[in-house]
Amino acid sequence: MTGKTGLIVGVANKRSIAWAIAQAASNAGARLALTYQGDRLEENVRDLASNLTDPLILPCDVSDDAQIVRVFEEIDRTFGGLDFVVHGAAFAPREELSNPFVQTTRDGFRMALDVSAYSLIALTRAALPLMERRGGGSVVTLTYLGSDRVFPNYNVMGVAKAALESTVRYLAADLGPKNVRVNAISAGPIKTLAAAGISGFSGILQLYRDRAPLRRTVETSEVADAALFLLSDAGRAVTAEVLMVDAGYHAMGM
Ligand SMILES: NC(=O)c1ccc[n+]([C@@H]2O[C@H](COP(=O)([O-])OP(=O)(O)OC[C@H]3O[C@@H](n4cnc5c(N)ncnc54)[C@H](O)[C@@H]3O)[C@@H](O)[C@H]2O)c1
Repeated sequence: MTGKTGLIVGVANKRSIAWAIAQAASNAGARLALTYQGDRLEENVRDLASNLTDPLILPCDVSDDAQIVRVFEEIDRTFGGLDFVVHGAAFAPREELSNPFVQTTRDGFRMALDVSAYSLIALTRAALPLMERRGGGSVVTLTYLGSDRVFPNYNVMGVAKAALESTVRYLAADLGPKNVRVNAISAGPIKTLAAAGISGFSGILQLYRDRAPLRRTVETSEVADAALFLLSDAGRAVTAEVLMVDAGYHAMGM
């Protein structure tokens, strides 16, 4: 990844999947821009990034188009182009992840789909001119099997992940002629800040320990290694893919 520059969206703390990907990309030689959502997370992200080589740290709420514009203006000024984007932002109001699904509110639905799915379109569109300047690029987002199967309390986030995975395919088809690849990693459950919002999450973790072919859950570093493959030239023929990094759980019928 030496000579490559990337944007990482979705670092909240050291447990964030996006942070593991940032470390892997940085260790492989990439120079990074990291964003934080709101003042609350700025210090966390700045502290973590102090170990990286010459990082660019910027605020970005992905539901705010003006902030997205500013991020890419700054990246353009500092990096002069962009090789990859990691999209690791997702959100649904807490009550939507514990109430019965039938009670999903219009507002909760709108928010979950906006932050967790539409934002991939907005970020990719803004990255496009910078990637074209580099002769192409790679975009990776993070999804979960709850897009396709029902997990207790995953609720509207499952619907948002279904939209996200479909968005990956449409973006990949749209941008493939410009040599921009778009993929998702479907990670097994990991105890992160986002996961803590899903009631009964520890039951999902135990299910993977009991039933996944590898009889275990996955670690953020393992998701990061798979992301590095998709972000780097090693994955140059892979696009429109949802890569399962879940200890094989997705294959099981029982
Ligand atoms: N943890 C898991 O079990 C798991 C499994 C599969 C997929 N994922 C996905 O991985 C991604 C990263 O989540 P994580 O588990 O590392 O948790 P996390 O809480 O560390 O990361 C979620 C990030 O989303 C950001 N975010 C939320 N709303 C935002 C907004 N409006 N603007 C900008 N950023 C916003 C948060 O600041 C945070 O950094 C998410 O898309 C999540 O759905 C997680």
